[in-house]
Amino acid sequence: MSQVKESWDNLYGYLLNKDQPGTIIDKYDRYAVHYDKDLGNLGYGLPAEVAGIVANNVKGMSDLKFLDVGVGTGLLGANLKKLGVDCVIDGIDGSQGMLDVAAKLGGVYATLKRHMLTIDNPLPFPDVYYDVSMSSGCFSPQHIESKMVEDMIRVVKKGGLVIVTSRDDVEFAAYRDEMEGRLKKLVEGNVVKMIETAKPDFFAFNYNRDDPSTPSSGKCWVMKKL
Ligand SMILES: C[S@@+](CC[C@H](N)C(=O)[O-])C[C@H]1O[C@@H](n2cnc3c(N)ncnc32)[C@H](O)[C@@H]1O
Repeated sequence: MSQVKESWDNLYGYLLNKDQPGTIIDKYDRYAVHYDKDLGNLGYGLPAEVAGIVANNVKGMSDLKFLDVGVGTGLLGANLKKLGVDCVIDGIDGSQGMLDVAAKLGGVYATLKRHMLTIDNPLPFPDVYYDVSMSSGCFSPQHIESKMVEDMIRVVKKGGLVIVTSRDDVEFAAYRDEMEGRLKKLVEGNVVKMIETAKPDFFAFNYNRDDPSTPSSGKCWVMKKL
């Protein structure tokens, strides 16, 4: 079996498999040490693409305060630092195992906090505090509820940016549509202005397709808080 297929099976047969015992966070805790290798094999380009999108939108700005929601092993922060974005990044994640891997990046994140983000447990940060709140790969079924994008908006300053992603393959259409409906209402209510939408590849492969070299697709929304 190819390494790519093995990594796909680890991800879908274990981590995202609802029939495997334990919560999604228990599974991330156990899977954390394999995450970067498996997702690397699958060509997980999303954090690098999101970092590029964020960097373009803050070009020329300095001394920025960022929040990474669902920091995981820190791929988004590492990519932003590689691009030379002048920012201090705080990160939260529900999985201590994932945060422990991110902490080993050394210096990418100013703070890393274990926090399970749910409707009953909002972000542990004040209103209008960050210049940018961003999230890569976390707004999807079993992960963060779409409504929590509103809490990401809450912690951002007026004029600040909120960047979120979701999966865009047909299997994820219900969640993506729910997210799109929510964002549409926030735009119509003048809470945010949509300044960019992008369709980055999620993985370079998709074993649910006849041709597994078909990329898994993602979606990224960039909003400015009004
Ligand atoms: C697919 S990983 C993405 C990690 C990282 N942003 C990346 O792009 O590599 C999803 C992350 O979301 C975290 N997570 C899932 N649900 C969460 C929740 N409700 N609150 C906080 N973190 C959550 C998981 O622990 C995991 O680290």
